[in-house]
Amino acid sequence: MPNTCVVGMQWGDEGKARIVDVFAADADIIVRYQGGSNAGHTVVVDDQKYVFHLVPTGILHSGKTAVIGNGVVVDPAYLFEEIDALRARGIEHEKRLWISDRCHVVMPWHRAVEAAAEEALGNAKIGTTLRGIGPCYTDKVARTGLRMVELIRPDALRKAIDDKLAFVNPVLTKVYGAAALDGDAIFKQYHQIGQQIKPMICDTVGLLNEAISQSKTILFEGAQGCLLDIDFGTYPFVTSSNTTTCGISPGTGLPPRCVEHVVGVLKAYTTRVGSGPFPTELDDAVGEKLRRDGGEFGATTGRPRRCGWFDAVGARFTAGINGIDTIALTKLDVLSGLETLNLCIAYECDGVRYDTVPADPHVMARLQPVYEEMPGWQQDVGSARTVGDLPEPARQYVKRIEQLVGVAAGMISVGPERSQMIVAP
Ligand code: GDP
Ligand code: IMO
Ligand code: MG
Repeated sequence: MPNTCVVGMQWGDEGKARIVDVFAADADIIVRYQGGSNAGHTVVVDDQKYVFHLVPTGILHSGKTAVIGNGVVVDPAYLFEEIDALRARGIEHEKRLWISDRCHVVMPWHRAVEAAAEEALGNAKIGTTLRGIGPCYTDKVARTGLRMVELIRPDALRKAIDDKLAFVNPVLTKVYGAAALDGDAIFKQYHQIGQQIKPMICDTVGLLNEAISQSKTILFEGAQGCLLDIDFGTYPFVTSSNTTTCGISPGTGLPPRCVEHVVGVLKAYTTRVGSGPFPTELDDAVGEKLRRDGGEFGATTGRPRRCGWFDAVGARFTAGINGIDTIALTKLDVLSGLETLNLCIAYECDGVRYDTVPADPHVMARLQPVYEEMPGWQQDVGSARTVGDLPEPARQYVKRIEQLVGVAAGMISVGPERSQMIVAP
Protein backbone atom coordinates (compact mmCIF):
# COMPACT_ATOMS: atom_id res chain seq x y z
CA MET A 1 0.00 0.00 0.00
CA PRO A 2 1.29 3.52 -0.78
CA ASN A 3 1.45 6.04 2.07
CA THR A 4 -2.21 6.99 2.26
CA CYS A 5 -4.24 9.80 3.75
CA VAL A 6 -7.92 9.61 4.69
CA VAL A 7 -9.68 12.99 4.83
CA GLY A 8 -13.30 14.00 5.34
CA MET A 9 -14.67 16.03 2.42
CA GLN A 10 -17.69 17.62 4.17
CA TRP A 11 -18.23 19.08 7.66
CA GLY A 12 -16.82 16.10 9.57
CA ASP A 13 -18.36 12.80 10.74
CA GLU A 14 -18.27 11.39 7.21
CA GLY A 15 -17.26 7.99 8.56
CA LYS A 16 -13.50 8.55 8.27
CA ALA A 17 -12.65 6.19 11.12
CA ARG A 18 -14.33 3.16 9.55
CA ILE A 19 -12.34 3.87 6.35
CA VAL A 20 -9.10 4.41 8.30
CA ASP A 21 -9.80 1.07 9.96
CA VAL A 22 -9.77 -0.66 6.55
CA PHE A 23 -6.46 0.86 5.45
CA ALA A 24 -4.86 0.46 8.89
CA ALA A 25 -4.70 -3.30 8.33
CA ASP A 26 -2.02 -2.68 5.66
CA ALA A 27 -0.15 0.19 7.33
CA ASP A 28 2.79 0.09 9.74
CA ILE A 29 2.12 3.47 11.36
CA ILE A 30 -1.13 5.41 11.73
CA VAL A 31 -0.69 9.11 12.46
CA ARG A 32 -3.01 11.97 13.42
CA TYR A 33 -1.68 15.33 12.20
CA GLN A 34 -4.19 18.01 13.26
CA GLY A 35 -7.15 18.76 15.48
CA GLY A 36 -7.49 17.34 18.95
CA SER A 37 -10.14 15.78 21.15
CA ASN A 38 -12.82 17.64 19.16
CA ALA A 39 -12.73 14.59 16.86
CA GLY A 40 -15.07 11.65 17.47
CA HIS A 41 -14.07 8.66 15.36
CA THR A 42 -16.22 5.53 15.52
CA VAL A 43 -15.34 1.99 14.48
CA VAL A 44 -17.71 -0.94 14.92
CA VAL A 45 -16.20 -4.43 15.01
CA ASP A 46 -18.43 -7.45 15.73
CA ASP A 47 -21.08 -5.26 17.37
CA GLN A 48 -18.43 -3.64 19.58
CA LYS A 49 -18.31 0.14 19.21
CA TYR A 50 -15.05 2.04 19.76
CA VAL A 51 -14.94 5.84 19.79
CA PHE A 52 -11.59 7.63 19.46
CA HIS A 53 -10.92 11.30 20.11
CA LEU A 54 -7.14 11.68 20.25
CA VAL A 55 -5.68 8.20 19.91
CA PRO A 56 -5.27 7.20 16.25
CA THR A 57 -7.90 4.69 15.20
CA GLY A 58 -5.22 2.27 13.98
CA ILE A 59 -4.42 1.31 17.58
CA LEU A 60 -7.29 -1.17 17.21
CA HIS A 61 -5.03 -3.28 15.00
CA SER A 62 -2.56 -5.14 17.18
CA GLY A 63 1.09 -4.61 16.42
CA LYS A 64 0.60 -1.25 14.66
CA THR A 65 2.30 1.93 15.80
CA ALA A 66 0.08 4.96 16.50
CA VAL A 67 1.52 8.47 16.41
CA ILE A 68 0.04 11.78 17.55
CA GLY A 69 1.91 14.20 15.32
CA ASN A 70 3.16 17.65 16.28
CA GLY A 71 0.18 19.38 14.60
CA VAL A 72 -2.31 17.88 17.05
CA VAL A 73 -3.30 19.80 20.18
CA VAL A 74 -3.39 17.32 23.04
CA ASP A 75 -5.56 17.52 26.13
CA PRO A 76 -3.88 15.05 28.51
CA ALA A 77 -7.02 14.72 30.64
CA TYR A 78 -9.02 13.35 27.69
CA LEU A 79 -6.05 11.33 26.47
CA PHE A 80 -5.78 9.35 29.70
CA GLU A 81 -9.53 8.84 29.82
CA GLU A 82 -9.31 7.33 26.36
CA ILE A 83 -6.25 5.21 27.11
CA ASP A 84 -7.93 3.84 30.26
CA ALA A 85 -11.11 3.01 28.34
CA LEU A 86 -9.07 1.18 25.68
CA ARG A 87 -7.07 -0.71 28.28
CA ALA A 88 -10.28 -1.83 29.97
CA ARG A 89 -11.20 -3.43 26.63
CA GLY A 90 -7.86 -5.17 26.26
CA ILE A 91 -6.12 -2.67 23.97
CA GLU A 92 -2.69 -1.74 25.30
CA HIS A 93 -0.84 1.41 24.22
CA GLU A 94 2.59 0.89 25.76
CA LYS A 95 5.47 1.14 23.29
CA ARG A 96 3.09 1.69 20.40
CA LEU A 97 1.47 5.06 21.09
CA TRP A 98 3.87 7.98 20.63
CA ILE A 99 3.18 11.68 21.09
CA SER A 100 5.27 14.42 19.55
CA ASP A 101 7.37 16.48 21.95
CA ARG A 102 6.29 19.45 19.82
CA CYS A 103 2.52 18.99 20.37
CA HIS A 104 0.81 21.91 22.02
CA VAL A 105 -1.01 21.07 25.23
CA VAL A 106 -4.66 21.99 25.79
CA MET A 107 -4.71 23.48 29.29
CA PRO A 108 -7.64 24.33 31.61
CA TRP A 109 -7.46 28.02 30.60
CA HIS A 110 -8.12 27.08 26.97
CA ARG A 111 -11.34 25.33 27.93
CA ALA A 112 -12.34 28.11 30.35
CA VAL A 113 -11.77 30.93 27.85
CA GLU A 114 -13.60 29.06 25.10
CA ALA A 115 -16.63 28.35 27.28
CA ALA A 116 -16.82 32.01 28.34
CA ALA A 117 -16.32 33.33 24.80
CA GLU A 118 -18.95 31.03 23.29
CA GLU A 119 -21.43 31.97 25.99
CA ALA A 120 -20.78 35.66 25.38
CA LEU A 121 -21.48 35.24 21.66
CA GLY A 122 -25.04 34.08 22.37
CA ASN A 123 -26.86 33.29 19.12
CA ALA A 124 -23.74 34.14 17.10
CA LYS A 125 -21.71 31.36 18.72
CA ILE A 126 -19.63 28.96 16.58
CA GLY A 127 -21.06 25.96 18.38
CA THR A 128 -17.65 24.49 19.10
CA THR A 129 -17.05 21.21 20.90
CA LEU A 130 -15.79 23.23 23.92
CA ARG A 131 -12.60 21.15 23.98
CA GLY A 132 -10.32 24.20 24.06
CA ILE A 133 -9.13 23.63 20.49
CA GLY A 134 -9.43 27.20 19.16
CA PRO A 135 -7.75 28.91 22.15
CA CYS A 136 -4.93 26.33 22.13
CA TYR A 137 -4.18 26.93 18.43
CA THR A 138 -4.51 30.68 19.10
CA ASP A 139 -1.71 30.41 21.68
CA LYS A 140 0.38 28.31 19.30
CA VAL A 141 0.22 30.95 16.58
CA ALA A 142 0.66 33.79 19.07
CA ARG A 143 3.79 31.98 20.31
CA THR A 144 2.46 31.81 23.85
CA GLY A 145 1.56 28.12 23.95
CA LEU A 146 2.81 25.28 26.11
CA ARG A 147 4.31 22.26 24.34
CA MET A 148 4.75 18.69 25.56
CA VAL A 149 8.48 19.19 25.87
CA GLU A 150 7.79 21.82 28.54
CA LEU A 151 4.84 20.09 30.20
CA ILE A 152 7.24 17.37 31.29
CA ARG A 153 9.77 19.86 32.73
CA PRO A 154 8.37 21.10 36.10
CA ASP A 155 10.17 24.49 36.16
CA ALA A 156 8.98 25.29 32.63
CA LEU A 157 5.45 24.18 33.49
CA ARG A 158 5.30 26.37 36.60
CA LYS A 159 6.52 29.42 34.68
CA ALA A 160 4.07 28.80 31.83
CA ILE A 161 1.15 28.56 34.27
CA ASP A 162 2.12 31.73 36.13
CA ASP A 163 2.76 33.73 32.94
CA LYS A 164 -0.49 32.62 31.37
CA LEU A 165 -2.74 33.13 34.40
CA ALA A 166 -1.38 36.66 34.92
CA PHE A 167 -3.02 37.42 31.58
CA VAL A 168 -5.95 34.99 31.47
CA ASN A 169 -7.42 35.49 34.95
CA PRO A 170 -8.18 39.20 34.39
CA VAL A 171 -9.78 38.28 31.05
CA LEU A 172 -11.90 35.57 32.66
CA THR A 173 -13.00 37.67 35.62
CA LYS A 174 -13.17 41.21 34.20
CA VAL A 175 -14.18 40.62 30.57
CA TYR A 176 -16.40 37.57 30.96
CA GLY A 177 -17.39 37.68 34.62
CA ALA A 178 -16.22 34.08 34.98
CA ALA A 179 -14.25 32.47 37.82
CA ALA A 180 -10.45 32.82 38.03
CA LEU A 181 -8.25 29.72 37.75
CA ASP A 182 -6.00 28.52 40.57
CA GLY A 183 -2.37 28.24 39.44
CA ASP A 184 -1.26 26.02 42.34
CA ALA A 185 -4.03 23.50 41.71
CA ILE A 186 -3.27 23.42 37.98
CA PHE A 187 0.44 22.93 38.65
CA LYS A 188 -0.22 20.07 41.04
CA GLN A 189 -2.48 18.30 38.56
CA TYR A 190 -0.40 18.91 35.42
CA HIS A 191 2.94 18.17 37.06
CA GLN A 192 1.59 14.71 37.79
CA ILE A 193 0.10 14.39 34.30
CA GLY A 194 3.45 15.45 32.80
CA GLN A 195 5.30 12.66 34.56
CA GLN A 196 2.60 10.17 33.57
CA ILE A 197 2.72 11.15 29.90
CA LYS A 198 6.53 11.30 29.70
CA PRO A 199 7.10 7.71 28.51
CA MET A 200 4.93 8.41 25.44
CA ILE A 201 6.64 11.65 24.43
CA CYS A 202 9.31 11.44 21.75
CA ASP A 203 10.72 13.01 18.62
CA THR A 204 8.01 11.80 16.25
CA VAL A 205 9.50 13.83 13.39
CA GLY A 206 12.58 11.62 13.60
CA LEU A 207 10.48 8.50 14.12
CA LEU A 208 8.36 9.16 11.02
CA ASN A 209 11.24 10.17 8.77
CA GLU A 210 13.17 7.09 9.84
CA ALA A 211 10.12 4.95 9.05
CA ILE A 212 9.94 6.45 5.55
CA SER A 213 13.62 5.72 4.97
CA GLN A 214 12.94 2.09 5.97
CA SER A 215 10.05 1.95 3.44
CA LYS A 216 7.46 1.50 6.15
CA THR A 217 3.87 2.37 5.23
CA ILE A 218 2.22 5.36 6.84
CA LEU A 219 -1.50 6.07 7.09
CA PHE A 220 -2.52 9.65 7.83
CA GLU A 221 -5.80 9.92 9.74
CA GLY A 222 -7.55 13.21 9.04
CA ALA A 223 -9.92 14.68 11.61
CA GLN A 224 -12.87 17.03 11.06
CA GLY A 225 -13.82 17.77 7.46
CA CYS A 226 -12.47 19.98 4.68
CA LEU A 227 -15.35 22.45 4.90
CA LEU A 228 -14.21 23.05 8.50
CA ASP A 229 -10.64 23.86 7.37
CA ILE A 230 -9.36 27.13 8.84
CA ASP A 231 -8.36 28.40 5.36
CA PHE A 232 -10.82 26.74 2.98
CA GLY A 233 -13.86 26.07 5.15
CA THR A 234 -16.97 28.14 5.78
CA TYR A 235 -15.09 30.73 7.85
CA PRO A 236 -15.67 31.75 10.62
CA PHE A 237 -17.76 28.62 11.27
CA VAL A 238 -14.75 26.34 11.05
CA THR A 239 -12.29 24.61 13.33
CA SER A 240 -8.82 26.03 13.98
CA SER A 241 -6.56 23.70 11.98
CA ASN A 242 -5.89 22.71 8.37
CA THR A 243 -8.11 19.68 8.06
CA THR A 244 -7.19 19.24 4.40
CA THR A 245 -4.12 17.32 3.22
CA CYS A 246 -2.32 20.69 3.42
CA GLY A 247 -2.07 20.03 7.17
CA ILE A 248 -0.07 16.82 6.86
CA SER A 249 3.40 18.18 6.32
CA PRO A 250 3.37 20.85 9.06
CA GLY A 251 1.52 18.42 11.33
CA THR A 252 4.01 15.55 11.03
CA GLY A 253 7.36 16.89 9.84
CA LEU A 254 7.22 14.70 6.73
CA PRO A 255 7.71 16.29 3.30
CA PRO A 256 4.53 16.63 1.17
CA ARG A 257 5.78 14.06 -1.35
CA CYS A 258 5.34 11.36 1.31
CA VAL A 259 1.59 11.46 0.76
CA GLU A 260 1.16 9.10 -2.18
CA HIS A 261 -2.55 8.36 -2.17
CA VAL A 262 -5.49 10.45 -0.94
CA VAL A 263 -8.83 8.91 0.00
CA GLY A 264 -11.69 11.39 0.41
CA VAL A 265 -14.58 10.26 2.59
CA LEU A 266 -18.03 11.46 1.56
CA LYS A 267 -21.27 10.67 3.31
CA ALA A 268 -24.04 9.87 0.80
CA TYR A 269 -25.90 12.88 2.25
CA THR A 270 -24.63 15.82 4.32
CA THR A 271 -24.44 16.55 8.05
CA ARG A 272 -23.07 19.37 10.13
CA VAL A 273 -22.75 19.91 13.90
CA GLY A 274 -22.55 23.41 15.33
CA SER A 275 -23.49 26.69 13.66
CA GLY A 276 -22.78 27.95 10.17
CA PRO A 277 -24.14 27.88 6.64
CA PHE A 278 -25.55 24.63 5.28
CA PRO A 279 -27.28 25.22 1.92
CA THR A 280 -28.84 21.74 1.60
CA GLU A 281 -30.09 21.47 5.20
CA LEU A 282 -33.47 19.77 5.62
CA ASP A 283 -35.73 20.97 8.38
CA ASP A 284 -38.44 18.42 7.63
CA ALA A 285 -39.40 14.75 7.88
CA VAL A 286 -36.62 13.71 5.47
CA GLY A 287 -34.01 15.45 7.62
CA GLU A 288 -35.49 13.70 10.63
CA LYS A 289 -35.35 10.32 8.86
CA LEU A 290 -31.66 10.85 8.01
CA ARG A 291 -30.88 11.74 11.62
CA ARG A 292 -32.80 8.75 12.96
CA ASP A 293 -31.68 6.09 10.46
CA GLY A 294 -28.12 7.46 10.30
CA GLY A 295 -27.81 7.76 14.09
CA GLU A 296 -26.70 11.33 13.49
CA PHE A 297 -25.75 12.40 17.01
CA GLY A 298 -22.25 13.73 17.75
CA ALA A 299 -19.68 11.15 18.84
CA THR A 300 -17.95 13.81 20.98
CA THR A 301 -20.74 16.04 22.29
CA GLY A 302 -23.88 13.95 21.68
CA ARG A 303 -25.49 16.93 19.91
CA PRO A 304 -28.03 16.08 17.17
CA ARG A 305 -26.37 16.61 13.80
CA ARG A 306 -28.07 18.85 11.25
CA CYS A 307 -28.91 16.75 8.15
CA GLY A 308 -29.44 17.54 4.46
CA TRP A 309 -29.08 16.43 0.85
CA PHE A 310 -25.75 15.62 -0.77
CA ASP A 311 -23.90 18.77 -1.83
CA ALA A 312 -21.83 18.12 -4.95
CA VAL A 313 -20.56 21.72 -5.08
CA GLY A 314 -18.82 21.40 -1.72
CA ALA A 315 -17.53 17.93 -2.59
CA ARG A 316 -16.07 19.07 -5.94
CA PHE A 317 -14.42 22.03 -4.20
CA THR A 318 -12.76 19.86 -1.55
CA ALA A 319 -11.78 17.17 -4.10
CA GLY A 320 -9.69 19.80 -5.87
CA ILE A 321 -8.01 21.23 -2.77
CA ASN A 322 -7.00 17.81 -1.49
CA GLY A 323 -6.11 16.12 -4.75
CA ILE A 324 -8.50 13.28 -3.96
CA ASP A 325 -7.52 10.06 -5.78
CA THR A 326 -10.49 7.99 -4.74
CA ILE A 327 -13.77 8.50 -2.92
CA ALA A 328 -15.03 6.34 -0.06
CA LEU A 329 -18.80 6.85 -0.06
CA THR A 330 -20.40 6.05 3.30
CA LYS A 331 -23.88 5.52 4.73
CA LEU A 332 -25.57 4.70 1.43
CA ASP A 333 -27.84 2.38 3.44
CA VAL A 334 -29.35 5.34 5.30
CA LEU A 335 -30.98 6.60 2.07
CA SER A 336 -33.05 3.42 1.57
CA GLY A 337 -36.77 4.07 1.75
CA LEU A 338 -36.91 7.52 0.15
CA GLU A 339 -39.09 7.99 -2.97
CA THR A 340 -36.76 10.52 -4.54
CA LEU A 341 -33.35 11.99 -3.73
CA ASN A 342 -31.97 15.44 -4.41
CA LEU A 343 -28.39 16.24 -5.37
CA CYS A 344 -27.22 19.84 -5.09
CA ILE A 345 -25.41 20.69 -8.34
CA ALA A 346 -25.01 24.49 -7.90
CA TYR A 347 -26.00 27.35 -5.61
CA GLU A 348 -27.84 30.57 -6.33
CA CYS A 349 -27.85 33.88 -4.48
CA ASP A 350 -29.22 37.27 -5.60
CA GLY A 351 -29.69 35.90 -9.13
CA VAL A 352 -26.05 34.76 -9.38
CA ARG A 353 -25.21 31.09 -9.91
CA TYR A 354 -22.26 29.61 -7.98
CA ASP A 355 -20.43 26.45 -9.07
CA THR A 356 -17.99 26.57 -6.19
CA VAL A 357 -18.03 27.47 -2.50
CA PRO A 358 -17.94 31.27 -2.15
CA ALA A 359 -15.64 32.92 0.40
CA ASP A 360 -18.08 35.60 1.56
CA PRO A 361 -20.02 34.48 4.68
CA HIS A 362 -22.78 36.98 3.84
CA VAL A 363 -23.34 35.18 0.51
CA MET A 364 -22.75 31.72 1.97
CA ALA A 365 -25.49 32.22 4.57
CA ARG A 366 -28.10 33.01 1.89
CA LEU A 367 -27.25 30.43 -0.79
CA GLN A 368 -30.14 28.51 -2.28
CA PRO A 369 -29.40 25.00 -3.56
CA VAL A 370 -30.07 24.07 -7.20
CA TYR A 371 -31.23 20.45 -7.16
CA GLU A 372 -31.26 17.57 -9.56
CA GLU A 373 -33.82 14.91 -8.64
CA MET A 374 -33.12 11.20 -8.80
CA PRO A 375 -35.26 8.15 -8.06
CA GLY A 376 -34.75 6.52 -4.68
CA TRP A 377 -34.88 2.83 -3.72
CA GLN A 378 -36.78 0.93 -1.06
CA GLN A 379 -34.58 -2.12 -0.45
CA ASP A 380 -32.22 -2.45 2.49
CA VAL A 381 -28.69 -2.43 1.03
CA GLY A 382 -26.84 -3.37 4.24
CA SER A 383 -25.95 -6.81 2.96
CA ALA A 384 -24.63 -5.68 -0.45
CA ARG A 385 -20.98 -6.64 -0.95
CA THR A 386 -20.56 -5.81 -4.65
CA VAL A 387 -21.83 -2.91 -6.74
CA GLY A 388 -23.97 -5.48 -8.57
CA ASP A 389 -25.83 -6.25 -5.32
CA LEU A 390 -27.14 -2.66 -5.17
CA PRO A 391 -30.53 -1.76 -6.65
CA GLU A 392 -30.28 0.09 -9.96
CA PRO A 393 -31.31 3.54 -8.57
CA ALA A 394 -28.58 3.25 -5.90
CA ARG A 395 -25.99 2.42 -8.59
CA GLN A 396 -27.17 5.43 -10.62
CA TYR A 397 -26.98 7.66 -7.54
CA VAL A 398 -23.37 6.64 -6.86
CA LYS A 399 -22.48 7.08 -10.53
CA ARG A 400 -23.96 10.58 -10.61
CA ILE A 401 -21.98 11.57 -7.51
CA GLU A 402 -18.78 10.32 -9.17
CA GLN A 403 -19.57 12.38 -12.28
CA LEU A 404 -20.38 15.54 -10.34
CA VAL A 405 -17.34 15.31 -8.06
CA GLY A 406 -15.04 14.11 -10.84
CA VAL A 407 -13.55 11.20 -8.86
CA ALA A 408 -14.48 7.49 -8.83
CA ALA A 409 -15.73 5.77 -5.66
CA GLY A 410 -13.33 2.97 -4.75
CA MET A 411 -15.29 2.03 -1.64
CA ILE A 412 -18.96 2.20 -0.72
CA SER A 413 -19.98 1.49 2.84
CA VAL A 414 -23.47 0.21 3.55
CA GLY A 415 -23.44 -0.10 7.35
CA PRO A 416 -21.30 0.68 10.39
CA GLU A 417 -19.82 -2.83 10.75
CA ARG A 418 -16.30 -3.45 9.48
CA SER A 419 -17.69 -6.04 7.05
CA GLN A 420 -20.39 -3.81 5.51
CA MET A 421 -18.22 -2.55 2.70
CA ILE A 422 -18.22 -2.72 -1.08
CA VAL A 423 -14.78 -2.40 -2.63
CA ALA A 424 -15.09 -1.45 -6.29
CA PRO A 425 -13.21 -3.77 -8.63
P1 GDP B 1 -15.86 10.25 11.60
O1 GDP B 1 -15.73 11.34 12.60
O2 GDP B 1 -15.75 10.74 10.21
O3 GDP B 1 -14.95 9.09 11.85
O4 GDP B 1 -17.35 9.69 11.74
P2 GDP B 1 -18.16 9.45 13.12
O5 GDP B 1 -17.63 8.24 13.76
O6 GDP B 1 -18.25 10.69 13.91
O7 GDP B 1 -19.63 9.24 12.55
C1 GDP B 1 -19.93 8.25 11.64
C2 GDP B 1 -21.04 7.35 12.23
O8 GDP B 1 -21.64 6.60 11.20
C3 GDP B 1 -20.50 6.34 13.22
O9 GDP B 1 -21.48 6.10 14.19
C4 GDP B 1 -20.28 5.11 12.37
O10 GDP B 1 -20.36 3.90 13.10
C5 GDP B 1 -21.43 5.21 11.41
N1 GDP B 1 -21.17 4.67 10.06
C6 GDP B 1 -20.03 4.70 9.34
N2 GDP B 1 -20.23 4.19 8.11
C7 GDP B 1 -21.54 3.83 8.05
C8 GDP B 1 -22.37 3.29 7.03
O11 GDP B 1 -21.96 3.01 5.90
N3 GDP B 1 -23.70 3.09 7.35
C9 GDP B 1 -24.20 3.39 8.58
N4 GDP B 1 -25.49 3.18 8.78
N5 GDP B 1 -23.45 3.90 9.55
C10 GDP B 1 -22.13 4.14 9.29
P1 IMO C 1 -14.60 14.47 13.35
O1 IMO C 1 -13.13 14.22 13.28
C1 IMO C 1 -17.88 17.32 13.13
C2 IMO C 1 -17.08 21.38 14.49
C3 IMO C 1 -17.79 21.86 15.73
C4 IMO C 1 -17.94 23.33 15.41
C5 IMO C 1 -16.64 23.65 14.70
C6 IMO C 1 -15.57 24.26 15.60
O2 IMO C 1 -15.33 13.58 14.28
O3 IMO C 1 -15.20 14.54 11.99
P2 IMO C 1 -14.00 23.19 17.47
O4 IMO C 1 -14.34 22.52 18.74
O5 IMO C 1 -13.22 22.34 16.52
O6 IMO C 1 -13.37 24.53 17.64
O7 IMO C 1 -15.44 23.48 16.78
O8 IMO C 1 -16.16 22.41 14.18
N1 IMO C 1 -16.29 20.13 14.65
C7 IMO C 1 -16.68 18.95 14.15
N2 IMO C 1 -17.80 18.60 13.51
N3 IMO C 1 -16.90 16.42 13.32
C8 IMO C 1 -15.75 16.76 13.93
O9 IMO C 1 -14.71 15.93 14.03
C9 IMO C 1 -15.62 18.07 14.42
N4 IMO C 1 -14.65 18.73 15.09
C10 IMO C 1 -15.08 19.99 15.21
O10 IMO C 1 -19.03 21.21 15.91
O11 IMO C 1 -18.98 23.50 14.48
MG1 MG D 1 -16.85 12.25 14.13
